[in-house]
Amino acid sequence: MLNFTHHIPTTIHFGEGQLSRLAELKESGKNVLLVYGGGSIKKTGLYDAVMNILAENGLCVTELSGVQPNPRIESVREGIRLCRENKIDMVLAVGGGSSIDCAKVIAAGVFYDGDAWDLVLDRSNITKALPIYSVLTIAATGSEMDTVAVISDMTKNEKWSTGSPLMAPKMSILDPSLTFTVSKKQTAAGTADIISHTLENYFTPVKGAFFQARMCEALLKTVIHYGPIAYAEPENYEARANLMWAGSFAINGVLSDGADVPWCVHPIEHELSAFYDVTHGEGLALITPYWMEYVLSEDTAWRFGEYGRNVFGLEGDDDMEVGKQAIACTREFFKKLGLPATLSELNIDATHFDIMAEKAARRCARTFVPLTKEDIRKILVSAL
Ligand code: NZQ
Ligand code: ZN
Repeated sequence: MLNFTHHIPTTIHFGEGQLSRLAELKESGKNVLLVYGGGSIKKTGLYDAVMNILAENGLCVTELSGVQPNPRIESVREGIRLCRENKIDMVLAVGGGSSIDCAKVIAAGVFYDGDAWDLVLDRSNITKALPIYSVLTIAATGSEMDTVAVISDMTKNEKWSTGSPLMAPKMSILDPSLTFTVSKKQTAAGTADIISHTLENYFTPVKGAFFQARMCEALLKTVIHYGPIAYAEPENYEARANLMWAGSFAINGVLSDGADVPWCVHPIEHELSAFYDVTHGEGLALITPYWMEYVLSEDTAWRFGEYGRNVFGLEGDDDMEVGKQAIACTREFFKKLGLPATLSELNIDATHFDIMAEKAARRCARTFVPLTKEDIRKILVSAL
């Protein structure tokens, strides 16, 4: 196990009725930038509820709406402008990972003199940030409890993650009932995202992190059990609650501390989103089984064997054989959630594979199995 420092500064208020905790924003000042997406919070009534609580507590609100899935750098720039113009004290995201990620880079960008894209390309430019708060409306990215933000510049076909401890939310409200209205498509994509975060941590070459691996398996079993229930019964509180809490833990450092490894499926997905604006979780579900097939070998079979036996309850001592069956189970699970299984289903052909593979390879040199540009190109071709 590697050395690590574990520190999660985010206060979580979990459960029904926790929205009233927004009163705590008063601790950070008076002027709030409210960041949200394309309007789902208006349809569900959450917008009115949030605005009422903020008004009751004497908070002044400036709004940045229309943050898109795969949030754009243009929204970040606009948010920074609004913060400076309105002397904003704190940023509140109400929505999913896209709104929260956008809020994080806005909060840091206010203190940076150059263009906000510099913060995305080079996290050392993040030196200070406004307090960040979130009300989570979809279980998926874990942005509500982590230090990461992912921003796209579609004019350049670029999507990169950045991060800083300064960007960890100060407080996040997780009320599972706020996710009852999430569509089947987004429920499936969110489930796939949580699974992918866990698998990225699970497939580590670091030996001796037994505890972390068992926690990964518990989380995978939870999400594999409850994802389909939430998909079939959107208002099943128990399913939504388990997905929501599992989503936060998949990426808040608990699974990775001591076993840390650069992620490899995410960089490949980020290229799909950068060129084709793919829904993040759909891209991950699609690539994961092909990546698994590519990296399964005599050297890596031990972990695939554990995955098959401990997560899917497969039997047998032959790691290679159990590993192959586990990959088939993974593929089948995603298929049952209606997630795409080939790039052709998303109308993606090989046109940009060279540049996509080249860019993804920049992040894959030290992954579970290091991947070159050619390796990634082959994985993409197999996924056609
Ligand atoms: O925009 P609105 O109208 O709010 O609708 C959203 C959006 O269309 C909708 N939605 C969210 N909550 C809803 C709802 N619809 C009905 N009822 C609700 N309660 O769902 C759609 C997707 O929302 P989005 O915020 O984009 O989803 P998600 O949370 O999956 O975020 C995806 C983004 O996060 C990044 C992804 O790359 C992608 O850009 N990631 C962020 C990470 C992080 N910060 O740590 C890590 C992840 O690996 C990921 O890369
Ligand atoms: Zn993800």
